[in-house]
Amino acid sequence: MTRTDRTQVAIVGGGPAGLLLSHLLHLEGIESVVLEHRSQDHVQSRLRAGVLEQGTVDTLRDAGLGAGMAARGMPQTAIDFRFGRRSHLIDFTHETGGRQVMVYPQHEVVTDLIRARLEAGGQVWFDTPVTQLDDLTTSRPVVHYEVDGEPHQLRCDIVAGCDGFRGLSREAMPADARTSYDRIYPFAWLGILAEVPPAAPTVTWGCHESGFAMLSFRSSTVSRLYLQCAPDDKPENWSDDRIWHTLHERLDVDDMPPLIEGRITQKGVTGMRSFLSEPMQHGRLFLAGDAAHIVPPTGAKGLNAAVADIRVLSRGILDFYRRASTDVLDQYSALCLERMWLVQRFSAGLCTMVHQFPGQGAFERRLQRADLDTLTGTHAGRLAFSENFTGLPYAI
Ligand code: FAD
Ligand code: DHB
Repeated sequence: MTRTDRTQVAIVGGGPAGLLLSHLLHLEGIESVVLEHRSQDHVQSRLRAGVLEQGTVDTLRDAGLGAGMAARGMPQTAIDFRFGRRSHLIDFTHETGGRQVMVYPQHEVVTDLIRARLEAGGQVWFDTPVTQLDDLTTSRPVVHYEVDGEPHQLRCDIVAGCDGFRGLSREAMPADARTSYDRIYPFAWLGILAEVPPAAPTVTWGCHESGFAMLSFRSSTVSRLYLQCAPDDKPENWSDDRIWHTLHERLDVDDMPPLIEGRITQKGVTGMRSFLSEPMQHGRLFLAGDAAHIVPPTGAKGLNAAVADIRVLSRGILDFYRRASTDVLDQYSALCLERMWLVQRFSAGLCTMVHQFPGQGAFERRLQRADLDTLTGTHAGRLAFSENFTGLPYAI
């Protein structure tokens, strides 16, 4: 492959944020290069998020990426909260006057995006770690990267830092120019993939005194399950018997059919964190997605938040080139953060409501139960949840 040494927008990281930005810019005739540390195989097989907000679905469809979702996506209109041995359904489509979400896994979104970029002749450079960002406060930033250990440079007008929580873009901003907020939760999720038809037609959350559990799905024959575990837990600590026993304990209720057991094909532990770094821009560097913020997976917001950032950033870059206007780019951080703090609040609030905290006393447990009763048993509770879960309005 011949590599250019000059592009309009250099995009660090080929996760959902970076790939979507590259695709949206391409649709507007703006050139970009995506530099991705890992291999194409690795990026396409990483098992992560599953729920797309209505706005994420619309954004992908409007960008010509609807075929996979139409064929394999599973539209959802309700969610089941199980506690007190009963099922409590929130019909979020009814509450919001028609908004839905779609279960369509992140690796499918990423695969669709990579296919679209490569078919259009887009520059997505895999196995290409970015090592340094320079001259970010000039009009000609430089991205340093390596191929087979050899150093190279890419000059550009704008750098998009889409390299996730452990990337280097955020650290390329001067430490005294940013403020970080960080909360690490004292528990994690064991994520499980099982070859078994989902036992319920809706995503189901089990809020039990022994901890949280969730039933979601990936297809009509594959279930995705999660259960609360210790933050330093290892998948090896969880035999299949122990997993099914715990899932039954937390998800089975008296008024719904019990879980169906099946062959477990994957298990992994995911830590829980709320993190945000502000501002999300420095000179010509703009952070998007996990590079700027992390939410606990409870609200299924990580991928959706990345898409919300990219909508603003792509619009800002379009105005920069088409109208020679930096109005949106100048406001990028403020526009993203206003919505993002609401997403942080929703995700952290749910996380605190449904998990058992180590050493938690009876009073806290009863307050949690009262929160769940308010969430599912009052119109205000159901509406607030439904508006957040299906996706808050975009800044742009
Ligand atoms: P990422 O997907 O992290 O992509 C960043 C990319 O940058 C990666 O491909 C990385 O290889 C690349 N990169 C990093 N450093 C460099 C470098 N120096 N040079 C070049 N490339 C680099 N969200 C949910 O809503 N529900 C879930 O159940 C859920 N589960 C998750 C499980 C795990 C293990 C993780 C890590 C995240 C999970 N998330 C979940 C969050 C969700 O997947 C993320 O919010 C989403 O991936 C954000 O997309 P992104 O493009 O911003 O970042
Ligand atoms: C998934 C579903 C959720 O509702 C959630 O909060 C997190 C993850 C999933 O299907 O992976």
